[in-house]
Amino acid sequence: MDFELQYTDPCSRARAGKITTDHGCINTPIFMPVGTVASVKAVHLHELKEDIKAQIILGNTYHLYLRPGLDTLEKAGGLHKFNGWDRPILTDSGGFQVFSLSENRKLTEEGAHFRSHIDGSKHLFTPEKVVDIQRIIGSDIMMALDECPPGQSDYSYAKKSLQLTQRWLERGWKHFCETEGKYGYKQTFFPIVQGCVYPDLRKDAAKHVAQLEADGNAIGGLAVGEPTEKMYEMIDVVNEILPTDKPRYLMGVGTPANILEGIERGIDMFDCVMPTRNGRNGMLFTANGIMNMRNKKWADDFSPIDPDGTSYVDHQYSKAYLRHLFISNEILAMQIASVHNLAFYVWLTQEARKHILNGTFKTWKDEMIIRVTHRL
Ligand code: GUN
Repeated sequence: MDFELQYTDPCSRARAGKITTDHGCINTPIFMPVGTVASVKAVHLHELKEDIKAQIILGNTYHLYLRPGLDTLEKAGGLHKFNGWDRPILTDSGGFQVFSLSENRKLTEEGAHFRSHIDGSKHLFTPEKVVDIQRIIGSDIMMALDECPPGQSDYSYAKKSLQLTQRWLERGWKHFCETEGKYGYKQTFFPIVQGCVYPDLRKDAAKHVAQLEADGNAIGGLAVGEPTEKMYEMIDVVNEILPTDKPRYLMGVGTPANILEGIERGIDMFDCVMPTRNGRNGMLFTANGIMNMRNKKWADDFSPIDPDGTSYVDHQYSKAYLRHLFISNEILAMQIASVHNLAFYVWLTQEARKHILNGTFKTWKDEMIIRVTHRL
């Protein structure tokens, strides 16, 4: 994988860049739609490609390992062949999902022990095993096994947890370096900076990660219950240390405003379930503010969903019609909202990129923050 840093905003840390993988290029900053179980929920591939203009999607080691399982994925020839997505794929390592989904989970030096949320069966993810699993999945970008402690963790827990994540990282990195991809193209491996809301832990974690000289680096453990200002402070602390010539990925973040603030602080890659999950509940993000499509105020509004929107659903359907679909619990409501929100998130990052490249990022961003947080 290659990263070309094309331009850095003179007024902030915002950057425009280009990642090149064996499955194609990604123009950064970029938002990556989440396709946990090998599908971006309620969205067809051609919509993802042609309408949303997604350049890379996510998969999840935890989910894919449990279902369809490694035999099927290997027989298919990897995830790209299995789901038909031929552009880049990034997979999360599963540590985060073990904590949010599985039962009876327990961390030891060896790894994360857990029971499947599907059938209760027992499993162990070690730092080496999640590399092997992601080799079988065949993701272009694999993630290290980490622990993501809750946002309110006290210092002593956060420190112990970080030290375990760092020992796991050493093992995962070594195993990554000693193994190869199965399908003839290159895979890369991103380490993850943890350390909760404690600047000295974050600094230590960022230095440890930076010395590996990986192709890219991730920041985890944010947007997990800590105050938003702490999140921004931690991004600043970490990006002071992470190399500028490698992409930086902020995991699981966030609202459109969080993404703009992240870009300003030097983040290049984002993922979040918010556009799809909130979309399925009737929440639409637009460049002019947030709409709750279940609201009665849209009942007789026959104007397009989003006149400024970039996806065909924005112009094809009216607000009144989409509200009707939500109130009637029609599946189409979720499909339309997912396409709209994902197209908006990808547009937002690509628009930021344009403004970084032409030197107008800061003024554009300040105005955009006000617009995207407005309630319509
Ligand atoms: N997704 C959101 N946050 C995290 C994190 O801290 N670690 C991992 N592995 N995935 C995440």
